[in-house]
Amino acid sequence: MPEDSLTVTDNRTGKSYELPIDHGAVRAMDLRQIKTDENDFGLMLYDPAFMNTASCRSAITFIDGDRGILEYRGYPIEELAAHCTFLEVAYLVLFGALPNPSELDHWVYEISHRTMLHETTKKFMEGFRYDAHPMSMLISTVAALSTIYPNARQIGDPEVRLRHIKRLIGKMPSIAAMSYRHSVGFPYVYPDNDLSYTENFMNMLWKMVEPKYAANPVLAHALDVLFILHADHEQNCGTHTMRSVGSAHADPYLAVASAASALSGPLHGGANEEVIRMLEEIGVVENVPAHIEKVKNGKGKLMGFGHRVYKNYDPRAALIKKIADEVFKVTGYNRKLEVALELERIALSEEYFIKRKLYPNVDFYSGLIYQAIGFKPEMFTVLFAIPRTVGWLAQWQELVVDAEQKIARPRQIYTGARGLRVAPITERVAGAGIR
Ligand code: ACO
Repeated sequence: MPEDSLTVTDNRTGKSYELPIDHGAVRAMDLRQIKTDENDFGLMLYDPAFMNTASCRSAITFIDGDRGILEYRGYPIEELAAHCTFLEVAYLVLFGALPNPSELDHWVYEISHRTMLHETTKKFMEGFRYDAHPMSMLISTVAALSTIYPNARQIGDPEVRLRHIKRLIGKMPSIAAMSYRHSVGFPYVYPDNDLSYTENFMNMLWKMVEPKYAANPVLAHALDVLFILHADHEQNCGTHTMRSVGSAHADPYLAVASAASALSGPLHGGANEEVIRMLEEIGVVENVPAHIEKVKNGKGKLMGFGHRVYKNYDPRAALIKKIADEVFKVTGYNRKLEVALELERIALSEEYFIKRKLYPNVDFYSGLIYQAIGFKPEMFTVLFAIPRTVGWLAQWQELVVDAEQKIARPRQIYTGARGLRVAPITERVAGAGIR
């Protein structure tokens, strides 16, 4: 019997089956042979929320949640944050190797020359209400780009794919900035290709009447590092959506819009907004112990703490904490940071949090930095979507060339009625349906 295998005995029939184990997994389809008789469909896996199901092989992002490790293409996130720009990391995530100087120059040129938007984009934007949420505007406008680039549907052509990957990475900050300017009623600002990716984003957000926008280098660097930390995070809800929609061969604009829609949910990309709200509610350091007690007594959660995968300090949170110091030196003292540090100090020494392995996650400090840089909370998820577009596209590209992948189509366990007859309308019982 091969060592890398699993023997399963079906107690209904007494039969045993040997299932190969590969990379710590058995194939769900290998269970299908396990049947009670010829007419039985065969055994399935039931895994709501995909708690323990791998849906792909991927060589992009590695996470060891117990040890607090995050790597893109084998490089620890700490290395990348210390030595690379966001566009270098984007190149790495997409192509699997860091660029050399000429590759990087070419890449930066290719992205920065795709930041302009078709003029009709302004018209879509003008159609949004004055109080439209920036994330909803971003999602709708990215989807609308599909109307401008109909050949993006040719997803089997590697050159076409690459062209649209570059377009999406180039245009996301432009659309994000337009969403912000629309929400505050300012005129749109055109991109400035002399500036770095993040400086140009800041230019499109905040340039007013000055002839040339000059970003504060500390804040631009902080934003660049935050973008690096958010570039990919393997098979989370948004990425899974990208792969699922992509598996139907939808074009990348529509697939990115779908992934961003998943990200917009408060359980996914919106937690840092909640952290800000919580810190405001606590107000001062003296109120922290009472808040911790409330959480321990089951009255609410400590927002920005805990993670489905990390059962250790989220490595991104550790890096963000360091950047926070640099940012606050520029933007000035922030009482909320003091409250956050005290919350973390007490929480990490409390049995409740230690026992449950609850540590600060990426959202605990990121909202504070974003707010200090000048973003309103409604923009936080938009800021997440810009860098994550790189991860979505890398995952999409990996999916498209993976011969094992097909259209995503989970099974279900049917629990409803069967074989009913339609009663004449006058004989039907009122209020019989599910409410
Ligand atoms: N504060 C207090 N208690 C918590 C917290 C928290 N932040 N998170 C989890 N717990 C407790 C749960 O109540 C549970 O306790 P119990 O065993 O007594 O019932 C235990 O820890 C395990 O929690 P689960 O909910 O089972 O963990 P899960 O992996 O499903 O949830 C999640 C992870 C959703 C992130 C959760 O920790 C949470 O809600 N945190 C706050 C919101 C947040 O910060 N989300 C951002 C995540 S990072 C990101 O998505 C980019």
